[in-house]
Parts: sequence; structure tokens; C-alpha cells
Amino acid sequence: MCAHYEITLNDVSKTFGKKIALDKMSLKIKKGSIFGLIGPNGAGKSTLTSLLATLSLPDGGTVTISDLDVISQVKQVRKKIGITFQGLSIFTTGTAWDNLLIAGKMNDMNTSKIKDRGEYLLKEFNLNQVSNDLVGTYSGGMKRKLDIAISLLHKPEVLFLDEPTTGLDPESRNILWQIISNISDREGTTIFVTTHYLEELNNVATDIALINNGKILDVGTPKELINKLAADHIEIHFSNLNSSMIQKLDEYVSNLVEVVNYTIKPRSLIMIGSKGQQIISKLLEFLIRNEVEIEFSELKQATLNDVYLANFTEKGAK
Ligand SMILES: Nc1ncnc2c1ncn2[C@@H]1O[C@H](COP(=O)(O)OP(=O)(O)O)[C@@H](O)[C@H]1O
Ligand SMILES: [Mg+2]
Repeated sequence: MCAHYEITLNDVSKTFGKKIALDKMSLKIKKGSIFGLIGPNGAGKSTLTSLLATLSLPDGGTVTISDLDVISQVKQVRKKIGITFQGLSIFTTGTAWDNLLIAGKMNDMNTSKIKDRGEYLLKEFNLNQVSNDLVGTYSGGMKRKLDIAISLLHKPEVLFLDEPTTGLDPESRNILWQIISNISDREGTTIFVTTHYLEELNNVATDIALINNGKILDVGTPKELINKLAADHIEIHFSNLNSSMIQKLDEYVSNLVEVVNYTIKPRSLIMIGSKGQQIISKLLEFLIRNEVEIEFSELKQATLNDVYLANFTEKGAK
């Protein structure tokens, strides 16, 4: 039991026939975090998500949400969670308010509570102007926003989002993530999300887990996972160096712990490493201090896409 963690899994397994979808998985998810799950098709993301959302049962191991056991205390767990799955769960022949009222009643909320919370959420999701229009007239982005607003109606402690932004344009995706992370900040909601858009996780996720073959390969902040890769690329071009300066530079670079590989030529330095921003600042400062004239410098920072490629594709496997 630990108040610090919202979700804990211990040795959780799930099989379908002979297929092991979750392989003795253990994982802890912090309260109030925005937790992203990344992995290729068939990795076990949906299996894990539906198990946590109490839509299926594990074959072995224990899972707790908010210190409640998802098997023996499933009713209490369900009060604490909200779910938005890929298929939209709203009905389009009613208004936003019709949808909220029905969802609220299903969650045993009284009408005044539904109205208060509904008004707040419609405003947050920028749907208050259209709240009495038929949902059938909404754009895809608006429907998605309503779907998520409904899943937050009973003020859950945990919100499960399975690919919430698939099919939305980049601007709608950004807006949606702003709203979700604002609400998470304000209400302390833990967000568990799977997505194929890694760049949006880079901006909002507090933690990311890499999953494959039913196992968690690694967990960390986006920065930690990117730094572990040590794949930032730095290139500096300068005026011709003499051999003693080349030697001096070589010595300096070889002592930088973040650098994993480098090539020095009389007119250029190319490096691969972690924390590229820090390395390039140090290097430029060193070169300027030694009165080297810099002609061009470039930093290409690794991204979560590189983390994905390195972990889940043959091209990335070393
Ligand atoms: N209902 C099911 N019956 C049989 N096999 C399943 C079922 N659900 C998932 N699987 C298998 O379990 C593995 C994990 O699937 P899933 O959790 O859907 O992966 P992901 O969501 O990461 O793409 C896959 O090999 C998949 O074929
Ligand atoms: Mg899936």
C-alpha cells in the first residue's frame, strides 16, 4: 500500500489460448501523472488498458487502483475511474446535455450535481456554445471532446484514454491535450494513455512505459528515455585548426561523459551523445575561449520517435 501510487501491478499475466498477452508484468503509476504507454501492435497495450479499466480479468497477479483490488473491489474501483475507448460512446441523436444527463444518471449522480459538473466541463472543453445542439452536427474533434468530458463527469481519480487523438488534426490534438493536462493538474487526475502520436507525449507525459511482448521494457520521463538513447547529433564547423588545437579539442571532447562517439577533422567536429543542448554549449564555449572561429553549428536532438525506433524496429536494434 502506498498513497504515492495510483496504480500498481504485481506479476500480472493474461493469456489468450497459448498467446501470452501480459507476461508477469509489474508496474507502478504515480498519482496525478500523465502516463503514456508506447509499443508496437500486439504489444499488449489494449489488454493492459482493458484490464486496468476493469473490463477484463487477469489470469494471475494483483492489480490495485487507489489501493483497491480490481478483482475483489471492482465496484468501488469503477467509481474511481473514467474510460474513453477508441469507439465513441456518445449518442449523436441527442444534445451534449442529453448525453451528460444519461451518463450522470448511470453514475448515480443527482441532476444538480450533473448540471454543476457538466457546466464546468462543457466550458473547459469549449463546448458550452453548442451544448444544446445535436451531437450529430459536431465535428470529429468536438465529438471526441464531449466523449472525454463525459468520462470525467463523475470526477474520476484515473482516466483511461486509448488513442484519444487518433484522426484529429494537429491543432485539435494540441487543444485537447491542453485541456486534459489542465484538468489533470487542477484535480490531480491520473491519466493513462496509449497513443501513436509520440510527439504529443513528449510535451505532456510525465512518465512513459515501453511495452513489447507483454513486458515492460523501460519506464521513465520522456527526457530520461531520450537521454538514455544518447542519440543527439551535434555538428560544428570552424576555421582550420592546427594540430595542437586538434589535440586539445580531442582531449576536451574525450572527457565529456555525455559524448559516446565523435570525429574531429581540421574544419569540423561531429558528435553523438546525450544531453546535446549541454554538450553544444560547453563545446562552443571551449572553442570561443580558444579563439576558434565558428562557422556553423547544429544540434539535432533525439525524440521519442527515435526511442520508439531503437526499441521496436529491426533498424534500431543494435
Ligand atoms: N481476445 C483476444 N483473443 C485472442 N488473442 C488476443 C485477444 N486480445 C488480444 N490478443 C492477443 O494478445 C496480444 C496483445 O494484444 P493487444 O493487447 O491488443 O495489443 P496492442 O493493443 O498493443 O496492439 C496480441 O498478440 C493479440 O493478438
Ligand atoms: Mg490496441
